[in-house]
Amino acid sequence: MSGGGGGGGGGVGGAAKPADPMEAEFDVVARWTEQAVAELGTEYAVPAGCRGTGSPSAFAWLAEALQIERGVRFLDSGAGVGGPGAWLRDHYDVEPVLSEPMSAAAGASHRLFGLPSVVAWSQSLPFRSGAFDALWSLGVLCTVPDKAALLAEARRVLVPTGRLGLLVYVRTPEPLPESPEGNDFPTQQELHDLLDETGFTVLQSTDADDLGSSPLTWQARLDRVEALVEERHSDSEAWQVAEAQSAIMGRLIGGGHVRSVLVHAVAG
Ligand SMILES: C[S@@+](CC[C@H](N)C(=O)[O-])C[C@H]1O[C@@H](n2cnc3c(N)ncnc32)[C@H](O)[C@@H]1O
Repeated sequence: MSGGGGGGGGGVGGAAKPADPMEAEFDVVARWTEQAVAELGTEYAVPAGCRGTGSPSAFAWLAEALQIERGVRFLDSGAGVGGPGAWLRDHYDVEPVLSEPMSAAAGASHRLFGLPSVVAWSQSLPFRSGAFDALWSLGVLCTVPDKAALLAEARRVLVPTGRLGLLVYVRTPEPLPESPEGNDFPTQQELHDLLDETGFTVLQSTDADDLGSSPLTWQARLDRVEALVEERHSDSEAWQVAEAQSAIMGRLIGGGHVRSVLVHAVAG
C-alpha cells in the first residue's frame, strides 16, 4: 500500500520518473507518515508530524518568546505535516493557521490534527496584510533560494508589532563538504542581515541543541513511525532519495558544519 499515487509524488511506487528530492522528502514521505500514524495510533501523530526539525523544548522556547496565548492570531509558515502547530494548540490554547506548499503534507495536517491549512508558498501567502500577531517558520528558510522574499512576506502578514520565530539551519562560513539538494544554508551573519533588511529586529537567538534532547518517549514514537515507513517503503526510490537527503543533513550537523538555531525577532 504505497500511498495511492496522485499528488505530485514523482517516482513513487515504481514509476519511471526519478524522485524529486524535495517532493520525496516533504510530500511523498508526508503521505506515508500519515498512513503510519493511522496504523499505529493518534498518540504517534504529533512527534511524527514534526519531522526532522522541532523538539518540544524548541517549540516551548519559541512559544514563550513569542508570548503565545489564547486569542493570538498565529501562522505556521511552511508547516509540513502540522505537528508543531498541533503541539502549540495543545499546549498554548491557540488556533494556528497553517500554510504549506506540498499538498499531501497540507492535507495530512488537516486530516491528522483538524488544523486549517492552505497550500501556499511562504513567499506569496493568501492572507491580507496584518492578519497575524505572531508567526513561526521552522526549518523552511534554508530550503528557499529567495530568503528575503519569504521574510518580507512574513513581515507583510504580521501586524506592525508582530512577533517572528524561526528555526534555521545555519552554516559555518567555510565551504560545506556536501549539501542536501534544494538546501541553501545561510551563515548566522547572513541570517541577521536578512532579518534586518526585511524589517525585523532580532531580540534573541539560541542553539536548539543547548535546550537539550527530546524526551525518550517522544523519540521512541518518532523512531517507531520511521521504522514502519522504512518497512513499508524502503524499496521505493522516493524513500531512498529522502533517506539520502537526511543522511547528508545528519553528517553536516554531526560534523559541526551546520547547526539548528532558534530566533526570536520582532517587526520594526
Ligand atoms: C524541514 S520541513 C519542516 C516542516 C515543518 N515546519 C516542521 O517543522 O515540521 C521544511 C518544509 O518547508 C516546506 N517548504 C519548502 N519550500 C517552501 C516555501 N518556499 N514556502 C513554504 N514552505 C516551503 C517544505 O514543503 C517542508 O514542509
